[in-house]
Amino acid sequence: MDEMIPVDLLLQLCFFLHEKIQNVEHKLLLKEKEKVWQILVQQISSESKNHLETFKEMQQRSPLLQHAKYKVLAGAPPQQKKLLTVGISSVQHPRGSYLLDTLQSVFEASSEPEQKSIVVLVHLSDPDPEWLRQTAANISRLFAPHIDARKLLVIHGLPGGSPLPGNLNDASHTSPCEALYSRQKVDYALLMNFASSLSDYFLLMEDHVHCSPKFVSAIYWALSAWEKLPWVILEFSSLNISGKVFRTSDLSRLTSFFLLFLKDIPAHLLLSKFSFLLGQTVPISLAPNLFHSWGYNFTAKNTCYQEEGEEEENLGKPNNPPASFFTNMMSTGSTIPEYAYFMSESYFQTQYLMPGHKYTVVFDKPHKVSHIKFLTGMGKQRIYYLQQGQVELGYEPVLENNVCARYSLLGPLVKGKFYQKVYYEEGFVEAVKCVRLLVTAPHDYTVWIRNISIWIKSGKG
Ligand SMILES: *[C@@H]1O[C@H](CO)[C@@H](O)[C@H](O)[C@H]1NC(C)=O
Ligand SMILES: *[C@@H]1O[C@H](CO)[C@@H](O)[C@H](O)[C@H]1NC(C)=O
Ligand SMILES: *[C@@H]1O[C@H](CO)[C@@H](O)[C@H](O)[C@H]1NC(C)=O
Ligand SMILES: *[C@@H]1O[C@H](CO)[C@@H](O)[C@H](O)[C@H]1NC(C)=O
Repeated sequence: MDEMIPVDLLLQLCFFLHEKIQNVEHKLLLKEKEKVWQILVQQISSESKNHLETFKEMQQRSPLLQHAKYKVLAGAPPQQKKLLTVGISSVQHPRGSYLLDTLQSVFEASSEPEQKSIVVLVHLSDPDPEWLRQTAANISRLFAPHIDARKLLVIHGLPGGSPLPGNLNDASHTSPCEALYSRQKVDYALLMNFASSLSDYFLLMEDHVHCSPKFVSAIYWALSAWEKLPWVILEFSSLNISGKVFRTSDLSRLTSFFLLFLKDIPAHLLLSKFSFLLGQTVPISLAPNLFHSWGYNFTAKNTCYQEEGEEEENLGKPNNPPASFFTNMMSTGSTIPEYAYFMSESYFQTQYLMPGHKYTVVFDKPHKVSHIKFLTGMGKQRIYYLQQGQVELGYEPVLENNVCARYSLLGPLVKGKFYQKVYYEEGFVEAVKCVRLLVTAPHDYTVWIRNISIWIKSGKG
């Protein structure tokens, strides 16, 4: 990706890492950490992409995972490789858990054909044997058909090798939060390590989440649209951990990264650093949210995690600020581009679209955009859809022909529709001046650009 680097954020991280590096006890890890640190420093100074390759090559599977031991508590691995593993890691919560509700929601929200393309992997990571036995028994009782059909698999994993780096088990050297962060990362690493051969993609979920209907199809279509574009993590929820989708081919690097910074940083912060190291500089967040939390009271140590404010789904009416319109698409049926932006019952109709055709909205003044939605075509019949196109953000300066000089990719249309949250790189906060729809394949039929909705952040425009 050609976007710029969030220098502020990186400097913070580097400083943080550097301090940590000063007092690490583990020789082997120390070397690796220093390498990652150097890479991050180079990234700031050079913007060269070569070191990303170095990072990719450097990460080997950690000995903790090479020798990990797994016990299958219920079910069996699927016979064929699936599209998606729904991975859930669960521990014992003092005030009861939503694990069973979460599983029920996963299966209720997905149709029979959808379930054929997924496998649900539950990693029970508590050491208490009685809890493991009871929980596995409860899952087996409630989800017997899914277990028999190999749609659901329950495992318990233990890291190999000892002692754990950072003396995970030695409470005297570890603060409660550090212990929690480490345990969480080991749990996720064990889950992901097991999942990496089950499917092409991996969806990370917590044990207190409910899912929107047909979330599997929504993820499938998004993955198809993003297939040829660069991404590391696609986010389908505004929750910090749940709803993130990875390629399973990236999981071994991610687990190594988790284990490298075991105590230092909570898992969700490491995730954003991870996508950055692989070249994705801002989160890619598809709307609407497909995953929601059942509640937070049992997140063990509230002092280690701040309250997670879930983004309100109800954005209200779009703002669609004053703008001008530029397009090289042919207008047909006496429609004009403005219709899609200003008139709720009308649309812009065009024909013979080829790659390179553009529809550009140029705001009268730059705005901090929060969400963008483009609808094309008509209804469920999927007629007049723009099948292949992408939405880009443009920044000042504006050229003589009234379009922006620089654009960055926001994302592709998914089934004729685009709906994404907009993020800004820290340290490079820039207001958006242009929003552009770019056609990426020939369309030999009539296309309707039906509704463009722009939400802007209030406050400074
Ligand atoms: C969470 O807290 C609320 C109110 O404090 C309570 O009603 C609810 O049962 C709690 N949930 C769990 C799982 O303990
Ligand atoms: C298992 O189910 C039984 C009966 O509903 C319940 O009493 C018990 O707390 C459950 N145990 C676990 C670990 O979920
Ligand atoms: C979620 O992420 C935000 C931003 O990084 C952070 O401020 C918040 O503490 C996180 N919430 C939890 C529950 O970790
Ligand atoms: C687009 O759809 C939104 C609802 O999502 C509606 O409020 C708005 O009026 C529509 N705008 C246009 C130009 O059709």
